[in-house]
Amino acid sequence: MKNRFRIDRSHTEIIKKSMIAKVRAFLKSTDLEPPYLLIDKTRLQRKAHSIGRNIKNSKVFYAVKANGDIEILKLINRMGLGFEIASEGELESLASIGVDKEKIITSNPIKSFRFLRSAAEYGVPYYSFDSKDEVRKLRDYVPGCNVYVRLSVPNEGSEWPLSKKFGVELDAAEELLLYARKKGLKPIGLTFHVGSQCTNIYNWNSALDKAKILWDRMAKEGIKLSVLNIGGGYPIRYRKSVVDISSIDKNINSLIYEKFPRNTQIFIEPGRAVVGDAGVFVSKVIGRAKREDEDWLYIDVGVFHGLMESVGGIKYSYIVQGSKQVRKWTLAGPSCDSFDVIDRDIFLPEPEIGDLVLILSSGAYTTSYASEFNGFSIPKTILI
Ligand SMILES: Cc1ncc(COP(=O)(O)O)c(C=O)c1O
Repeated sequence: MKNRFRIDRSHTEIIKKSMIAKVRAFLKSTDLEPPYLLIDKTRLQRKAHSIGRNIKNSKVFYAVKANGDIEILKLINRMGLGFEIASEGELESLASIGVDKEKIITSNPIKSFRFLRSAAEYGVPYYSFDSKDEVRKLRDYVPGCNVYVRLSVPNEGSEWPLSKKFGVELDAAEELLLYARKKGLKPIGLTFHVGSQCTNIYNWNSALDKAKILWDRMAKEGIKLSVLNIGGGYPIRYRKSVVDISSIDKNINSLIYEKFPRNTQIFIEPGRAVVGDAGVFVSKVIGRAKREDEDWLYIDVGVFHGLMESVGGIKYSYIVQGSKQVRKWTLAGPSCDSFDVIDRDIFLPEPEIGDLVLILSSGAYTTSYASEFNGFSIPKTILI
């Protein structure tokens, strides 16, 4: 007989009982071989609807990089949301389902030539930038397009900081917007990203303070900005509880109300918060071993096939089929690479070979990061 799933409060604080019931019903109905990623449609739709609801004059553009599965994109498109993209591949997916060009923006400040060509051809209307080279590229490929500059803002307290790679300080941002105008582009606003999985609500405060300074400086230069793109960063619960979306948005809304003109158009680009906690990876135990004094548990999905963020500090929660006592494990993936270690010092009931391990809150930055390293296929995504 199969072992039962060991579910306790630490799990039901993360995943709703109704979602566990859906996952169980799916598992009962299928003989599909793990690993695969299940996405709960209802949860995804609820999350997507909740973002921006408390921010006046806001439009949501789902960051496709979080999970570009075509069925997810169709669902989000049917909900009427827009999309934020970074590559020709993401654009091709949107084109294949007939997404209106007006619903697409790109906030990748450094774009490949191939992407610029396809974005210009499709008619993508909004582009971010943070260098003079990019202004010249945009002038050549998408003359006259709308541009917003990427401002660098503090990412402290974000579990996945982004700011060092992109963004410029105030003086450079001002100079770049003026340069963009000189080159015939339309400087319409600014963008920032507080860092992904941002658990520090004050990051939005300092980002908006800085944005306001640039906004006013540009007005003095005769450039009336109209778009404030606040990026993504909304956190989801992996283990620890996080501040909820409505509190974050109410705070952002009151800061915007205080600082910016009433008709400012707000763009939001959430990725993780839309799909992350709607996802559950289903994986299978393929090995156990004792190495010196450590107990190792091997499952059929690893760092290279979906759980890359575990290496960068994301701590997943696991529901295990296991009847024996709880022990401390080192959890590893199936590849022959020693980098393929998902977690250390985690307490789980001992499973048998062939038992399932459910990995919670795993809908974002998992399959979209996955490779076929070592010959393992990229896990399928299934909407339930
Ligand atoms: C430009 C841009 N927008 C939006 C996002 C989505 O961020 P998150 O998944 O933290 O909401 C990212 C993530 O890397 C990004 O780089």
